[in-house]
Amino acid sequence: MPDAVADAGAAQLVANPFAAWLMLIEELALPPGAWLAQSAASSALGRLVIQLARLRGIRTINLVRRREQIATVRSWGGDEVICTVDDDAVDRIRAITGGAGVAAALDAVGGATGTELAKVLGQGGVMLVHGVLDGRSISVHPGWLLSKGAALRGFWLRHWFARTTPARWWPWRRTCLR
Ligand SMILES: NC(=O)c1ccc[n+]([C@@H]2O[C@H](COP(=O)([O-])OP(=O)(O)OC[C@H]3O[C@@H](n4cnc5c(N)ncnc54)[C@H](OP(=O)(O)O)[C@@H]3O)[C@@H](O)[C@H]2O)c1
Repeated sequence: MPDAVADAGAAQLVANPFAAWLMLIEELALPPGAWLAQSAASSALGRLVIQLARLRGIRTINLVRRREQIATVRSWGGDEVICTVDDDAVDRIRAITGGAGVAAALDAVGGATGTELAKVLGQGGVMLVHGVLDGRSISVHPGWLLSKGAALRGFWLRHWFARTTPARWWPWRRTCLR
């Protein structure tokens, strides 16, 4: 990075935009109109996901853990925002999606929140697990995954960098950050 860019800002230009783009566009490749649910939606990464999703016509259901984050996440363009302290996320997401569940989920939390997101995956749904903020396990009945044909998959940017050459990611980075 040029010296004119402060380290804190420069750090934001690398990990989160890359992760948001790769998960949403390359890993999930959702069509316009699809529902995507995400936890820790008030994070810097959550904000990028919301903005990218809007550009692609993907609708977002955003989980936050504090009431005051609802208005903020709406102002970023989140279609639906659920405070996990006040609401049953599973019931709300099923109602929002007309019972079908979401096409995909991004989970940075795990524990009860990650479990709720896994439960609302629709037919063939995919959940990318990219964080462990809660520290506890996700609990999913195997019959649930089986009947939905759903999948839980880990995502770590470090793995992507390890298998991707600079020749590929430099031009791509310019496009992503434009
Ligand atoms: N796998 C990858 O390659 C990759 C790449 C980039 C980022 N990430 C992950 O993405 C997540 C967000 O990163 P960021 O830099 O955008 O973070 P950030 O801006 O610092 O925001 C952290 C967010 O997480 C929420 N949070 C923290 N602990 C929580 C918990 N136990 N339950 C629910 N919400 C919780 C915070 O909510 P409060 O404001 O209420 O505290 C805040 O909204 C992190 O888990 C990070 O590791 C993963």
